Amino acid sequence: MRKVNYNRLSSWIEQLSRIGATPEGGVRRLAASDEDRDGRNLVLSWMKDLGLEIAVDQIGNIFATLRGESDSAPIMIGSHIDSVGNAGSLDGPYGVLAGLEIVASFKDVGILPSIPICVAIFTNEEGVRFQPDMMGSLVHAGGMELESALATTDRTGKSLGDELARIGYAGPVRCGSIKPRCFIELHIEQGPILENEGITIGVVEGVQGIYWTEVEFRGQANHAGTTPMHLRRDAGLAAMSLATEVKRITDSIPNQVGTVGSITLKPNLINVVPGWSQITIDLRNRDGDKLHDAQLRFEAAIELVQEKENVSATVTPLVRFEPVEFDHNLVAIVECAAQSLQHSNRRIVSGAGHDAQMMARVCPAAMIFVPSVNGVSHNPAEATNEEDLYAGLDVLSKVIESILKDASS
Ligand code: HGY
Ligand code: MN
Ligand code: MN
Repeated sequence: MRKVNYNRLSSWIEQLSRIGATPEGGVRRLAASDEDRDGRNLVLSWMKDLGLEIAVDQIGNIFATLRGESDSAPIMIGSHIDSVGNAGSLDGPYGVLAGLEIVASFKDVGILPSIPICVAIFTNEEGVRFQPDMMGSLVHAGGMELESALATTDRTGKSLGDELARIGYAGPVRCGSIKPRCFIELHIEQGPILENEGITIGVVEGVQGIYWTEVEFRGQANHAGTTPMHLRRDAGLAAMSLATEVKRITDSIPNQVGTVGSITLKPNLINVVPGWSQITIDLRNRDGDKLHDAQLRFEAAIELVQEKENVSATVTPLVRFEPVEFDHNLVAIVECAAQSLQHSNRRIVSGAGHDAQMMARVCPAAMIFVPSVNGVSHNPAEATNEEDLYAGLDVLSKVIESILKDASS
């Protein structure tokens, strides 16, 4: 009788979290960095120990497949192991390593699943070093040209393509050539809803839309003491005025969230009026029309700020992902699995972006959430209670059993 091994999953999560460990107890494995390389190498060693068939594609996505009784299209279970700048240890690795645990549980009892099971690690899900986010799965799904993705550069001018080659993960397999029957991603909620309602399993119906925009303001650096306020061309004031405008936009549109994650000033000195600034905006909404409306209001605000501060703006769209709905049948299978295991559950829309939202473009996709302690994520304090981690693994295992049964009927 096949059964999952909770301790093995916990041990894998703990070992991976040591790679890129930060002094604050978090992890830092930016896409295509040395730490990302080391994390990939470690998980790949576990995949090889399990005797899986390994494929690395041209954007560094890793696919590890357990053969099935038939060689039809595989069930794909995946996520990412790259992280934001100072992250927790579960965002991404939990979904990859739970997938690996499912495969290992078949190997333990020496049985082959009716169809292959493929565990995927997607490149650059976080998008903090190279934009857009979910890049590896986006290219896999045909949503972005490989060449454009490999040509994206980080703030030091290094390209993703060069960095993947440097860390040894510029693979030979053509992107998108591995076509799954369906895609399942197990992930922490990264928000407060499940915990607040005392619910164990999130049956994810879809992902909200995401718009990322970068705005560069050019004004004139000048003396902080001698330059009268009405003669200034203050690029810093322009960026900060725009940032406060984001709050007014989110206050006026239901379910709208907006984040100014980074503001850079030059020359960034106490006695110099900033002549240059750059600001990034992350707008999200589950309703595509409302998200578009928020974006239009934001762009109108840029025009006003330019005029008011007598600066010029360059606006660069970094991400335009519309809301995604997951496959209804697969969502129902997730819900049934949670119910049959008697785990409290509720339907939920994901606030965070995920590789599943890209895979939904090419195959039926669904996600399973487990609660985040205090709703915190993208932060070393990110945590999920052990019994919830294991409940998520059990639901994933049950979902895979249901799909395998359907596939062999
Ligand atoms: O931005 C996101 O939601 C994801 O963590 N990349
Ligand atoms: Mn994630
Ligand atoms: Mn994340």
